[in-house]
Amino acid sequence: MITDTDLIGKTAVITGSTQGIGYETAKLLLQQGCSVVINGRNSERCERVASELQEFATHEAEVISIAADISTETDCRAFFEQAQGAFPKIDILMLNAAYDPPYAGSIEAIPEEQIDQTIQTNIKSQITLSQLFLPEMAQNKDGVVILTGSAASQRGSNRYAVYAMSKAALSHLTMSLAAEYGPHNIRVNCLAPSVIRTEFTKAMWGDPAKHTSLSNSYPLRRIGEPEEIAAMAVALCGKAGNWMTGQTLVIDGGQMAAVGCHYDM
Ligand SMILES: NC(=O)c1ccc[n+]([C@@H]2O[C@H](COP(=O)([O-])OP(=O)(O)OC[C@H]3O[C@@H](n4cnc5c(N)ncnc54)[C@H](OP(=O)(O)O)[C@@H]3O)[C@@H](O)[C@H]2O)c1
Repeated sequence: MITDTDLIGKTAVITGSTQGIGYETAKLLLQQGCSVVINGRNSERCERVASELQEFATHEAEVISIAADISTETDCRAFFEQAQGAFPKIDILMLNAAYDPPYAGSIEAIPEEQIDQTIQTNIKSQITLSQLFLPEMAQNKDGVVILTGSAASQRGSNRYAVYAMSKAALSHLTMSLAAEYGPHNIRVNCLAPSVIRTEFTKAMWGDPAKHTSLSNSYPLRRIGEPEEIAAMAVALCGKAGNWMTGQTLVIDGGQMAAVGCHYDM
């Protein structure tokens, strides 16, 4: 359990937080006394999740939900305005929602609309949301930004080239935002997980045989859990992250470190 009294009374905005990594991060932040704005595309679901999460709040932290499809610029702007109207100050921004193109295979055949949607949601919207939220953080001389990248950004892919490229762009955006906003005391980091047990990657681990073979590709012999990424995100929001900025943290059960290794167990 992380305990960091620094987060009491703060406010976090997390895109894509009705389930998975965003949801677990919201839960952990609420447990630290940090208010949270939940987001997803479906308003009923957003409201249900927000009221479910309220029970985890401590120190009078609040949870509200703002439904918005962050793949559109109009919704990004409306999302920002509502978030800004709901809380006097936003301290933490986690840019977590992403598009996972259904196509997997050679780059020669990826449908154009999936290329566009990947670039729009995973890159352009993250720039738009940064443009909207960071100026006020800069004025406040305080802020934490976390982008959810992917371990897929760290190597080439013969099946997911465009998705991997979009996440690599986020690692670069992380460095540029850190460089520009560091003098305003804004810290920007990127989390790059390998396969985590969420809906996003269910096709990769849902089947028991696939699950076993995937688990065996990690030195830690299992895939990751969303709470494990959430714990790192929350650590970055508090004291542990105070002098860390511009970094991509690969959280992958040791997979990258063990390329070429074979296990008999
Ligand atoms: N799971 C993994 O193995 C893995 C590995 C590496 C990186 N990641 C990254 O981790 C992040 C979160 O993934 P996850 O595994 O937690 O996914 P998840 O469990 O599928 O959750 C995705 C969340 O994003 C919301 N969402 C999706 N599209 C949205 C949009 N256009 N606008 C607003 N909200 C949207 C979903 O709600 P609605 O559907 O209701 O909108 C949901 O709350 C993503 O950036 C993903 O690329 C995941």
